[in-house]
Amino acid sequence: MSSALLAMSRHLEVRDVLKTIVASARELLDAEYAALGVPDDHGGFAQFVVDGVSDEQWRAIGPLPRQHGILAAMLQEAKAERLADVRKDPRFEGWPAAHPELADFLGLPVRDGDEVIGALFLANKRRPAGEHSPGREPRGGCGFTEEDEELLSILAQHAAIALTNARLYERSRELTIAEERSRLAHELHDAVSQKLFSLRLTAQAAARLVDRDPARAKGELRRVAALAAEAADELRAAVVELRPAALDEDGLVATLRTQVQVLDRAHTARVTFTADGVRALPSAQEEAMLRVAQEALHNALRHSGARRVDVTLERRGGKAVLRVADDGRGFDPRSVRRAGRHLGLVSMRDRANGVGGRLTVESAPGKGTTIEMEVPGG
Ligand SMILES: Nc1ncnc2c1ncn2[C@@H]1O[C@H](COP(=O)(O)OP(=O)(O)OP(=O)(O)O)[C@@H](O)[C@H]1O
Ligand SMILES: [Mg+2]
Repeated sequence: MSSALLAMSRHLEVRDVLKTIVASARELLDAEYAALGVPDDHGGFAQFVVDGVSDEQWRAIGPLPRQHGILAAMLQEAKAERLADVRKDPRFEGWPAAHPELADFLGLPVRDGDEVIGALFLANKRRPAGEHSPGREPRGGCGFTEEDEELLSILAQHAAIALTNARLYERSRELTIAEERSRLAHELHDAVSQKLFSLRLTAQAAARLVDRDPARAKGELRRVAALAAEAADELRAAVVELRPAALDEDGLVATLRTQVQVLDRAHTARVTFTADGVRALPSAQEEAMLRVAQEALHNALRHSGARRVDVTLERRGGKAVLRVADDGRGFDPRSVRRAGRHLGLVSMRDRANGVGGRLTVESAPGKGTTIEMEVPGG
């Protein structure tokens, strides 16, 4: 038994675990045939593993069994069946022509709590020569003993564990895919939608200039092309999970300074940057800081109508603190949380939490907005 259990733990594929269980059951309990069926929701079996039947025989038998007869009873009633001759049971409904003749039968439900997730069964206990010939009703009732039933129940429990693990694994894989999708959505929002916004503004500027000042319009159109190329790069980076190249080359402080200068030139609002005493941070934190700063700046310039936006990066009590403050119209942060389509604030909070930091949003209508992100270290 213990070597059977060890063999199971070596397999990762649930089907291999079930095969090992079925083969071990047949060998340990000295039966001619063993099988395990996992029902599906349509009256059939999602999995059906057998041992003691050759491939040729298996093909000759034909399609997988449906849930009927004794199998259905085991799945519905969830109790053990020990029968001297399965063919004489009132629930027996026959089998295909090529099906082997089964006589004595031992079957157990495979359970996860109250739910029956399969049936494990054996047929035709082998007996010492002369005492029994296969397919005929054994002398003195069922060849499988109570002890056999106990042994089989241990294997049934292991089958339950294997099947439950497989389901959990499937569920966690689905969750991982959902997380990945939301990461990508945030990444695209942060990186690409801002570039596209700038691109739109530049294209509008070019359209206004084209009659009046074709030379400048040409310049703006060149910027449109450059921004489109950058957006394409960002898109590629988001998909393969790269961080902004500038961070690796220049670090957070220099990257932020450059971006603020560009925004200051592009918008009527005055945009400033001050850094005070912050050393280099781990790269994940720098990236999170940069993304939060970009979104906060973007929001300030797009929504607030501010005359000033001040970005500061400083060290405070063993922590690095980023602040983006504007003197614009402000808003009520609580009312935004309920609106579905805005990703910026949610994404900033996720990014801060993701690197062990914290985000605070201070704003009220008419009061301007201050976004602060704090991370340990620096
Ligand atoms: N600095 C700010 N000043 C005034 N209002 C703001 C500011 N930042 C955010 N808001 C308000 O909060 C809302 C939500 O912001 P959020 O960044 O989550 O979404 P969004 O900017 O509307 O869309 P996106 O998903 O493209 O970021 C904005 O629509 C705006 O009304
Ligand atoms: Mg936003």
